[in-house]
Amino acid sequence: MADAFEDADLAAYYDLINGFGPDTGFYLGLVLAADAVLDVGCGTGLLLKAARASGHTGRLVGLDPAKGMLVQARREPDVDWIRGDLGTISFDGEFDLVVMTGHAFQVFLTDDEVRAQFTAIRRALRPDGRFAFETRNPGARAWERWTPENATEIVGHDGEHVRVEHFVERVADGLVTMTETFSCPDWPEPRVDRATLRFTEADHLDSLLRETGFEVAERYGSWDRTPLTGTSREIITIARPGRLPATGRR
Ligand SMILES: C[S@@+](CC[C@H](N)C(=O)[O-])C[C@H]1O[C@@H](n2cnc3c(N)ncnc32)[C@H](O)[C@@H]1O
Repeated sequence: MADAFEDADLAAYYDLINGFGPDTGFYLGLVLAADAVLDVGCGTGLLLKAARASGHTGRLVGLDPAKGMLVQARREPDVDWIRGDLGTISFDGEFDLVVMTGHAFQVFLTDDEVRAQFTAIRRALRPDGRFAFETRNPGARAWERWTPENATEIVGHDGEHVRVEHFVERVADGLVTMTETFSCPDWPEPRVDRATLRFTEADHLDSLLRETGFEVAERYGSWDRTPLTGTSREIITIARPGRLPATGRR
């Protein structure tokens, strides 16, 4: 079993499959308006690279635990790329904007994991900062389109033809487990990655944000900023630090 994010060869295909899209454009506008930006789960660094290329002169920090993704990110030397996660690296009131893009939020599978991320992100923000992220709306049932019939064909950097297909193994309790198979006629065998993603309802997301001291400032259902509906593909949130709820402790 390969890990598509740890393996530098597979990570090289990531931007060919997930290139600059309307989501990148949405976040790029926010990044360009902020001085200091932290991208949690930055992956190959597409967003921060685009920000530098667009003339951003402030502090740009990309954080990701996956070696393969950071190999790709580090091709742009003018961004601070850090290998790790918010469990081991902390920031204190340093950023105007924290982003978590490309559905990275969905790798956190429990409420406790999400609370830990949100708490660390709130700590990393300046008092007037913003946290922007998105998660796929469970109401749009994206996993029903992750089938071998909807495979993607890409041409790799060496001209190799690679087929990428998804197969959903399990859908239960808001968790979707699937495989992603990369195959190429030139390879002895396909490379298979397995991942589980969490799908969170907007109401539940908002209670986790409130518990960790955030208020929802803006909420959209798609990248053109249309409002969220029950079947919108995305739940896009821009949150700001608010009051921390009373703990009940004396
Ligand atoms: C689907 S990719 C998104 C990458 C990038 N943000 C984008 O928009 O293309 C999810 C990323 O989350 C990263 N990731 C996994 N666990 C993480 C953690 N605990 N903290 C931060 N990032 C994590 C993965 O390594 C991967 O690069």
